[in-house]
Amino acid sequence: MPESPGVLTEDEAVELFAYLLTSARTQLDEPPDYASMRLLTAAEPLRDRVAGRVSPEVAAMLEATLVPSSHARNSRGRPMTDGMLELIRTRRVIRAMSDRSIPLQDLEKILEAGRWAPAGGNQRVVRFVAVRDPKTLEVLRRVSPGMLQRPAAAIVLCLDHEAIRANEIPDNDPVPYVDIGTTMQTMLLAAHALGIGSGPVTSFAHEAVRVALNLPRELTPELMVCFGYAEKGARQPLTRGGGAPRVTWQDLTHWERHPQSPQS
Ligand SMILES: Cc1cc2nc3c(=O)[nH]c(=O)nc-3n(C[C@H](O)[C@H](O)[C@H](O)COP(=O)(O)O)c2cc1C
Repeated sequence: MPESPGVLTEDEAVELFAYLLTSARTQLDEPPDYASMRLLTAAEPLRDRVAGRVSPEVAAMLEATLVPSSHARNSRGRPMTDGMLELIRTRRVIRAMSDRSIPLQDLEKILEAGRWAPAGGNQRVVRFVAVRDPKTLEVLRRVSPGMLQRPAAAIVLCLDHEAIRANEIPDNDPVPYVDIGTTMQTMLLAAHALGIGSGPVTSFAHEAVRVALNLPRELTPELMVCFGYAEKGARQPLTRGGGAPRVTWQDLTHWERHPQSPQS
C-alpha cells in the first residue's frame, strides 16, 4: 500500500504496536530477553519511517523509549556490538520456570537449530526425543536429580549407536559426546533467541529415562534440555550470590603457548 501523510500501512501499525508493547514489557523484565532487545534496538529506523504520520502522543512515546542503536547497551551496561555475541553473553540457565506452555512452532525451531549444530565428520549420530506431555515430563523429573526445573517441554539428546557403528566410530572416540555438546548449546541459544528459558541436565537415571521414553537399545539418552519461560521475579536456584567476581575469558586463556608447557 503506498504511504500517504497521516496514514500508516497495516505492517507499520503492527510494527509500531509491537515496539511500544515490547518497550513497556522490557521495563519490567530483568534482564530483557534477546528478542526484546533486538526489537528495541531496531527502533530508530522505525521512528524515522513513521515520522509525521503518527499523532504527537505516539511520537513522544516512541521518543521516550527509543534505544538508539549506537547507544544500545546490554543488561550489564556494556555496549551492544553484535547481536549474536549479545545472545551468547546474556543466556543463563533458567531453573525457575512458569507453567506457560511453549508454542509447538517454537519447539520445532529449536529442534531445527539442533539439526544445524556442527557434527564431527558430519556423521549425525545425535537423535532428539521432544517431550511435551506433562505426565512424561513429571516422570523424567522424578528420575532426574539434576532437573531442578518443572519444564514445559524437554528435548532428550540421545546417541544412536547403530549410526556410530555404521560410521566406524571407535568406542572410546569422544566426538559423539562433543556432538551432544554442540547440539545442546545450539538449542540453548535458539531458545534464548525466542525468549524461552532453558537448562541442560545430565544428572539423571539413564535406564529409567530409556524406559520412560520407550527408547530402543541402540539409543542412549545422554543429556536433556529443559525449556520453559522464566518465572518473573523468581531467584534462579544455583545462581551464585555475594557478588563473587565472574570468571573472565582472560582467566581461561593463554596466548600461543602455555607458560608451563614442557616445550617452553
Ligand atoms: C554438560 C552440562 C551438564 C549440566 N548438567 C546440569 C544438571 O544436571 N542440572 C543443572 O541444574 N544444571 C546443569 N548444567 C548447567 C550448569 O550448571 C550451568 O551451565 C553452569 O552453572 C553455568 O551457568 P550458566 O549456563 O547460566 O552461565 C549443566 C551444564 C552442562 C554444560
